[in-house]
Amino acid sequence: MSTSIMMTGAFFTAVVLLTTGLCSGHAVLPPGPVNGAVGGNVTFNTIISSEGPIPTIIWNFDGGSGSALVISVSSGVANEGPGYEGRVSVNSFTGSLELKQITLGDTGTYTVTLITSKPETLTDSAVLNVYEKISGAEITGPSEPLIAGNSSANLSCQAAAGTSISWEWLKGDQPLSPSNRITFSEDKSSVSISPVESSDNGEYQCRLSNPVSTDTASYTLTVKL
Ligand SMILES: *[C@@H]1O[C@H](CO)[C@@H](O)[C@H](O)[C@H]1NC(C)=O
Ligand SMILES: *[C@@H]1O[C@H](CO)[C@@H](O)[C@H](O)[C@H]1NC(C)=O
Ligand SMILES: *[C@@H]1O[C@H](CO)[C@@H](O)[C@H](O)[C@H]1NC(C)=O
Repeated sequence: MSTSIMMTGAFFTAVVLLTTGLCSGHAVLPPGPVNGAVGGNVTFNTIISSEGPIPTIIWNFDGGSGSALVISVSSGVANEGPGYEGRVSVNSFTGSLELKQITLGDTGTYTVTLITSKPETLTDSAVLNVYEKISGAEITGPSEPLIAGNSSANLSCQAAAGTSISWEWLKGDQPLSPSNRITFSEDKSSVSISPVESSDNGEYQCRLSNPVSTDTASYTLTVKL
């Protein structure tokens, strides 16, 4: 008996959603992920604008272990999910969500559901990637003197903190290009020069980047004739 009541309830909900126009394919959020830095704030801006407050706004989060409430705002009453107290806010005219003081644990998929005054149900989702800012970039190189035409040098670039996504090498102010003597490791975190020539003398820079930060390290290579 109770099963049939629950099924009726589910059926009723489905009918309401259909008749109110559930448009799951409707774009509410711009395409692409949102990137944020640990400790920073991020905003999921919608591409919706309403002349009045949107009656119901619901944001859910799924970090890989199921969906959980971030915040819902219904008829002006906000309800923050566990763990989000005091660090979330919603713009009632656009449905945009601001999330403050983010941590790596906030990485995941955010789904917004809007029930407009039409009424129409709109839903969309976006991924949040959270990165630690890169700091303490450093190049390590050979400690012994280098002899032109004989020695080889391997410069390697690492950061003390942060998630490095890309490496870029410069010599002087010019990008360092691979050649028959200059080879990069696959991720470009190190470069090998073999053999070194006197033309390799000079200042090398390594620029480490991720979507929220960049840090640069320098190294002076000295080659003896
Ligand atoms: C995040 O938002 C809070 C409160 O609005 C503000 O005080 C803080 O400076 C912001 N942090 C960053 C990194 O912008
Ligand atoms: C060049 O390298 C070889 C082998 O590593 C070494 O025996 C030789 O002494 C080096 N020549 C010079 C000029 O340093
Ligand atoms: C430089 O040395 C490191 C560690 O010894 C090694 O992993 C890396 O592959 C070397 N890089 C190149 C370009 O040979």
